[in-house]
Amino acid sequence: MIQSKLPNVGTTIFTTMSQLAVQTGAINLSQGFPDFDGPQALREAVGHHVMAGHNQYSPMTGLPALREQIARKIARSYGRQVDMDEEITITPGATEAIFCALQALVRPGDEVIVLDPCYDSYEPSVELAGGRCVHVPLALPDFSIDWQRLADALSPRTRLIILNSPHNPSGALLSRDELEQLARLIRGSDIYLVSDEVYEHLIYDGARHASVLAHEELYARAFVVSSFGKTYHVTGWKTGYVVAPPALSAELRKVHQFVAFCGVSPLQWALADYMAACPEHVDELPAFYQAKRDLFCDLLAGSRFTFTRAPGTYFQLADYSAIRDDLDDVEMSLWLTREHGVATIPVSVFYQSPPAGLRLVRFCFAKREETLRQAAEKLCRV
Ligand SMILES: Cc1ncc(COP(=O)(O)O)c(C=O)c1O
Repeated sequence: MIQSKLPNVGTTIFTTMSQLAVQTGAINLSQGFPDFDGPQALREAVGHHVMAGHNQYSPMTGLPALREQIARKIARSYGRQVDMDEEITITPGATEAIFCALQALVRPGDEVIVLDPCYDSYEPSVELAGGRCVHVPLALPDFSIDWQRLADALSPRTRLIILNSPHNPSGALLSRDELEQLARLIRGSDIYLVSDEVYEHLIYDGARHASVLAHEELYARAFVVSSFGKTYHVTGWKTGYVVAPPALSAELRKVHQFVAFCGVSPLQWALADYMAACPEHVDELPAFYQAKRDLFCDLLAGSRFTFTRAPGTYFQLADYSAIRDDLDDVEMSLWLTREHGVATIPVSVFYQSPPAGLRLVRFCFAKREETLRQAAEKLCRV
């Protein structure tokens, strides 16, 4: 028998629920991906670059034309001038960026603080680096940081804190004041940050994203991660990037060049073209997704689910305690899929120790209007 390095890792709930949705014919609002395509010009550009012969390795750090566009966007969105050669690395997905950042920094015996509920790739990546996750629950009902608990969790072994804003699964946003508070908390320590900002452009109700890129002090110790998959509706392209000060980028690149070496070349060419031609795409995203969130929530208002509209991401949490308080959220998700034809994700799977009596499921609203209408109709009958 092989002694597993990740004995606690099995098939993720995302795979399980998506498979169940296919088997049962349920509408799949579980896994986070759009059921519509990215911009036509962007997709056509991939075909163009494949035919134009852009099919060999790109530079290890990423295609210069794309890094240039990213640097421009960062200057425009967050007012920071980054050095595209020293500070930006393009990766096959945000997941690889997070993995490489963790391998670069975490040593055996180190502790990494994660704020539960959290994205499922963090812990295995920490464990493969020989570290240990210290789970600090976010405060309910708004999934804000519990500063006392975070302060209590710090130790001389704390190597790194992983942030995620806008937050999957809750949609919660970190404010500029909270970034300030974090800066005060870790000032004088040598704790680093991974700031997972893959939903940076999915922010609603006029709010602005408080990026670590716009915070001088925190950026000096941070890897800031983003994903083209989320921003351009092309999750299957698995193309992302990480921005970090030169010394941190240099360490991350030592790992990245032996994990993947580089991202997929024609995709990078296409993204560079599209970003240059259509910089306004990112400015249009909040209204685009807010309309979907509001449609879904307005329709769900006729159901027995209770919820507060998500401030960010393309996920909407809903409390089902008025419907089936006797079921835990995994049972509820299976029941909803099998009996009512809508697949969801139970929120407890994002926790090490879920709060007792948690009755929340996550719906992905990155869907066409007709999908959202059909799903809501079913959910209103539950
Ligand atoms: C919080 C969070 N981080 C990272 C990722 C991974 O992004 P990518 O598909 O670019 O690897 C996701 C995808 O769902 C996510 O929700």
